[in-house]
Amino acid sequence: MREQIEQIRQEAVAALSQAADLSALDAIRVGVLGKKGSLTAALRGMKDVSPEERPLIGQLVNEAKDAVEQAVELNKARIVRRQREREAATERVDVSLPGRKIARGSLHPLTETLDEISAIFEKMGFVWEDGPEVETDWHNFGALNFPPDHPARDEQDTLFLENGLLLRTHTSPVQVRVMQRHRPPVRMIAPGWTYRKDAIDATHYPMFSQVEGLLVDKNVTLGDLRGVLKFFVREFYGPQTEIRLRPSFFPFTEPSAELDISCFACRGTGSRDGKVCPVCKGTGWKELLGAGMVDPAVFQAVGYDPEEVTGFAFGMGIERIAMFRYAVDDIRLFFDGDLRFLRQF
Ligand code: DAH
Repeated sequence: MREQIEQIRQEAVAALSQAADLSALDAIRVGVLGKKGSLTAALRGMKDVSPEERPLIGQLVNEAKDAVEQAVELNKARIVRRQREREAATERVDVSLPGRKIARGSLHPLTETLDEISAIFEKMGFVWEDGPEVETDWHNFGALNFPPDHPARDEQDTLFLENGLLLRTHTSPVQVRVMQRHRPPVRMIAPGWTYRKDAIDATHYPMFSQVEGLLVDKNVTLGDLRGVLKFFVREFYGPQTEIRLRPSFFPFTEPSAELDISCFACRGTGSRDGKVCPVCKGTGWKELLGAGMVDPAVFQAVGYDPEEVTGFAFGMGIERIAMFRYAVDDIRLFFDGDLRFLRQF
């Protein structure tokens, strides 16, 4: 009996010191100390031991149990320590691993377009001015030299409110408000929402946005207008872009012009891949904005002396510019709020 206990003890301690991992360790422990373990079985054999020998054997069994339990703890510590060392040696935190993407919003393409446009004019010293979207007839039309019977004043085109006010049809009334507030010189841009009673289609929407520009000083010429617009166009569309001013008409400018830029899709050639360029329809030019020299009647309306100052103005549609820019063929996409569209920017 004694030898048997001694043997169990020695073999268990030896086996524990060889155990490679925690589950092997536990298997050995159960094999010795468990309900069906070898030491437990030996303990059961106590009934065959003579009464004189029993205390001694009992003590041996207890000692063996303590020794095995101690060996379990010792080897557990050894295994854990080794495992940690191995992890430290082989596992690396890869600090170059890209982080998980945090979903965040982005700027709307119209906002981005406007930001770029205004940044270019700010470089030239233009300051940002705001005006109300609900306007008087006088600011929107009268002061801008629209005759009383001008078609733009028609119910068909303008959204009138019941109290005699209207939703501004363009950003030009901001010119009027700024000149009323400030003595010349003036150098401003006025971005904002504008409204027209248009039926919705691929190029029309009843709410759209414009950027107005106005520069007033002594001796401002058409050449200055051309230079400012050329700088803008080349910053925005690239240095190879050509411009041309085409005679046009607006009540508030004289002379008036439309600014065309060489088509960015075909570089002004009118053809692409041997076919008629779909962007400019083969003309090589794209109409970009309206502009002109401020009409003396507008200066008179705001109390400026047309003998003393001259100026130029321009106005452009932001949706139109963004549509060119991003090759978007339907204005409605900007307002639908469809994330599949917006995520592309
Ligand atoms: N207000 C014009 C429109 O909505 C655009 C425009 C044309 C503005 C010529 C100007 C300008 O300041 O000089 O169509």
